[in-house]
Amino acid sequence: MGHDRIKCSGEVDCFVFRVRLCGVCRVSRDWQSPTCHAIILIERQQLSARGDEMSKTDGRRRLAGYLGPVTPQWIKTTYNILYSRWRLINNCIYDYRFFRRWSGLPRLAPSRISLRALITMNYHRIEKGLSLREPRPGFGKYHIEKLVRDLHSYIDRFGPDQTIVVAVNVLREYLEFNRRHDSVDQAIREQIEALQERVAKLPVCDERGGSIELTRAQIQEAGMIDLHRFFASRHSVRHFSHEPVPRQLIERAVAMAQSTPSVCNRQAWRVYCFQDPDTKRAVLAHQNGNLGFGEQASWVFVITCDVAHFVSVGERHQAWVDGGMFSMSLLHALHSLGLGACALNWSREKEADRALRKTAAIDERDVIIMLAAAGHLPEKLRVAQSARKHLHEVMIDGDERRARRGRTA
Ligand SMILES: Cc1cc2nc3c(=O)[nH]c(=O)nc-3n(C[C@H](O)[C@H](O)[C@H](O)COP(=O)(O)O)c2cc1C
Repeated sequence: MGHDRIKCSGEVDCFVFRVRLCGVCRVSRDWQSPTCHAIILIERQQLSARGDEMSKTDGRRRLAGYLGPVTPQWIKTTYNILYSRWRLINNCIYDYRFFRRWSGLPRLAPSRISLRALITMNYHRIEKGLSLREPRPGFGKYHIEKLVRDLHSYIDRFGPDQTIVVAVNVLREYLEFNRRHDSVDQAIREQIEALQERVAKLPVCDERGGSIELTRAQIQEAGMIDLHRFFASRHSVRHFSHEPVPRQLIERAVAMAQSTPSVCNRQAWRVYCFQDPDTKRAVLAHQNGNLGFGEQASWVFVITCDVAHFVSVGERHQAWVDGGMFSMSLLHALHSLGLGACALNWSREKEADRALRKTAAIDERDVIIMLAAAGHLPEKLRVAQSARKHLHEVMIDGDERRARRGRTA
């Protein structure tokens, strides 16, 4: 991809990128193909958002351009190996610092979000216990004492909110369960009742929490849809119609995606939604896989996870798991509403990460999971076939593999 600096209509200084695009699907594919090309003007305003990131990359590219033809291949390979290792270490330090600074790892005064995450974790433990086939009477005493302490501390420091009410409802159900089984621990009962009394005086409304009884028929009736057809008809769409997508439709999709399961129901995800054309352009300018279609999208999303919800070292990757699952739900929700969408990778390094955070005003505690573009489908469109691997490459017979490797229980 070459670029020249030109004067554009006497007003703005622009870069011109000459990009070869596939003539059929309009996705950059075959850089050598002479069949078609597009010229994309990126105004300086947009370019400045990428500032440092661009200039560093440009510098390296220029250097590679000068030295490339005269440098032996073994030096280039060695350089690439060493340089990528250096970048890896550098980016790992960036991730480490980020998690240490913003996560919910133990600290003297946990943030509101982290304390809320701990409360949710512990009340959800009780919900899980109550939903077992045969809950053990009196289970979870240690976690309940911790939960009650955290709830008092939360109300003292931040006041009451939905989390408190849900937690107290769960504790109420726990107490009722133990009353039915004649297994009430006196100290726990007193602690829960004191908390209930405190919450009863607070100006917060009742919310759900605890467990509910369902029948197989209820679940199956709602769940047995033709999911094979639904999955098979979702494609990454890289061609959108001009018709704008109303905000209500996006809200419905996000609300649906909220049903995604998450670790201890912590729901750390967030989705930053953009429809302003300038902002969309500026956001997409940081992403490297939307060329030829990003600008047609009615909405652009940045999906993130707030790491303050993750409270131990073992949870350091949880943001990508929960955020990734939420992202998939969002794509499916958009599909179910008849919209087209394309996931957009955020496989970028720290400089790009910092730049996008700035442009999109991402909260400092949020880790960026991925981007996505969505819009109405045109009457006719092409999609990539994206052939899938054979089932046997994905589905491993674990028992047979273990036996082959001579593992015993
Ligand atoms: C996390 C993620 C990032 C992706 N990033 C891009 C991207 O930057 N640009 C793009 O055109 N497609 C992107 N895709 C779409 C994939 O190319 C596509 O999902 C895959 O080829 C399967 O095709 P399908 O979605 O049509 O089933 C991404 C998909 C995922 C899950």
